[in-house]
Amino acid sequence: MSAVLTPLPSDGRDESADRPQTGDVPTRLHASALSEVWLGDSARLTEAVGDLGANLIVTSPPYALGVDYGQTSYADDQPYAEYLRWVHRWAATLLDVAAPDGRACINIPLDSNKGGKRAIYADYLRIFQEVGWTYQTSIVWNEQNISRRTAWGSWMSPSAPFVTAPVEMIAVFYKDTFRRPSRGGRRGDITRDEFLAWTLGTWTFAGANPRRVGHPAPFPEELPRRLIKLYSYPEDLVLDPFVGSGTTLIAAMRLGRRSVGVEINPQFCDLTVRNVTAANASLEAVS
Ligand SMILES: C[S@@+](CC[C@H](N)C(=O)[O-])C[C@H]1O[C@@H](n2cnc3c(N)ncnc32)[C@H](O)[C@@H]1O
Repeated sequence: MSAVLTPLPSDGRDESADRPQTGDVPTRLHASALSEVWLGDSARLTEAVGDLGANLIVTSPPYALGVDYGQTSYADDQPYAEYLRWVHRWAATLLDVAAPDGRACINIPLDSNKGGKRAIYADYLRIFQEVGWTYQTSIVWNEQNISRRTAWGSWMSPSAPFVTAPVEMIAVFYKDTFRRPSRGGRRGDITRDEFLAWTLGTWTFAGANPRRVGHPAPFPEELPRRLIKLYSYPEDLVLDPFVGSGTTLIAAMRLGRRSVGVEINPQFCDLTVRNVTAANASLEAVS
């Protein structure tokens, strides 16, 4: 069953602003045979695309960690309670634009240490289930990033030691039904070895380099590549509502899935379009 959308408050929006802001209904910037890029607020995606019927959602939202996403269209330093209300809104929108057997894979940290220890992953599990998604499983992504280990609390003393898990999580949900039998002779494209390895829920591979990608918080292509092969069929529709530099769209194209990406920052939209166009050209050169 679809969740009821909470109306977006209009008071936060500046009607005269000449740049996209939270609350703007997305508009389509780019379309090719396999991918589309939309500019605007993914919480209002339903108003732009109606019943999209996304088979798989793969995304990494902003984490309220104060990341500079380049402009005022989205402020990543809002109070945590407001941030969670915002998550509630777009989680409900995603349910509306998913197919009845659609799945959602959401990449978030286990904990957040900004402004005190927060169980951000636990909050996401609660919110997604509150809006109507059903929980399926969790995957632990071990980025092997120990450089984050800067706060020890009380050094070598039980007085107040801090324990930090340098991992991110991927929460997997589904809409109405998890089972998706193959129809019309379609088959998945995951290999035996990939299936055996990836159904063990601890994944170890390095993160992406923000400077090389030109985006402050990209994930590596390996992350959407695994999720897409594990949870979708070729030709399915993959959605990333926080597409950033376009990593999910590129992984989807290379695997023969259709894809839609939404992004609120026009510079990142342009970056995605450039990346998608380049990936398309190299795919055409190979075929
Ligand atoms: C963690 S980044 C995603 C990075 C992406 N996975 C990649 O590999 O490049 C989150 C993105 O969400 C965008 N964003 C923030 N608020 C948004 C909104 N309301 N609608 C759509 N995109 C939004 C930010 O500009 C940022 O690019």
